[in-house]
Amino acid sequence: MEPKLIMVSVGKSGVKIPMHIQEAIFVTSSGNYKKCPPPDKPEIAFIGRSNVGKSSLINMLVGRKSLAKTSARPGKTQLINHFLVNKSFYLVDLPGYGWAQASKTQRIGWNEMVNQYLLHRENLVSLFVLLDIRLPPQKIDLIFINWLINNNIPFTLLLTKADKISKQQITIQLNNFKQILAVTSTNPLNYFVTSSKNQLGKSEILDFIEQIVIGYKMV
Ligand code: GTP
Ligand code: MG
Repeated sequence: MEPKLIMVSVGKSGVKIPMHIQEAIFVTSSGNYKKCPPPDKPEIAFIGRSNVGKSSLINMLVGRKSLAKTSARPGKTQLINHFLVNKSFYLVDLPGYGWAQASKTQRIGWNEMVNQYLLHRENLVSLFVLLDIRLPPQKIDLIFINWLINNNIPFTLLLTKADKISKQQITIQLNNFKQILAVTSTNPLNYFVTSSKNQLGKSEILDFIEQIVIGYKMV
């Protein structure tokens, strides 16, 4: 299933113009969805296994090197982080799941914090689930995706770190993902192939976000 890409901005030449990011600012980190900023703007969140590239992807989208803190060491993001973009929507960097070094108590605490946020954050309009394109979805990814499906939380897949494999391998991996995920979900899954290193997927994801933000404001 190809991602639903809707062309939003078309210039005189007919070339797609990506959404211009004028401003992206860190707002706050919260340990509980109830302490997040007032839910007065649409928000888009990023989730996935620890180290999959969530924070790097947010930086790539907004064109800032280190707005969201990244690290080669897993477990860097441990709170719900809000970034306000163009004064009109939030991008939210969530802690990763499946970090082996975390204690059981820490893991339960983060899972609970993230699950409560996903279930109750009223202005959450889109969720991106990140998977490393080099690996088949891990058991913990499938458990999480199943949890989203069972709770009727819609999501879009972002397959990350595509710069690390060849185009041919990308095609092979896409077929593997489709087969594995077809068992998990009967609905077609939307996805984008991405690389924070070489900006792959940037304009398509920004277009997708722009559509969602426009749609939210019209309701
Ligand atoms: P946690 O906050 O620990 O859950 O991790 P995260 O998912 O936010 O990952 P982060 O963005 O911190 O990236 C983890 C590591 O992967 C860093 O060393 C990044 O430089 C690297 N990385 C992220 N995205 C890419 C990518 O697209 N290509 C390559 N080559 N490396 C990437
Ligand atoms: Mg992070």
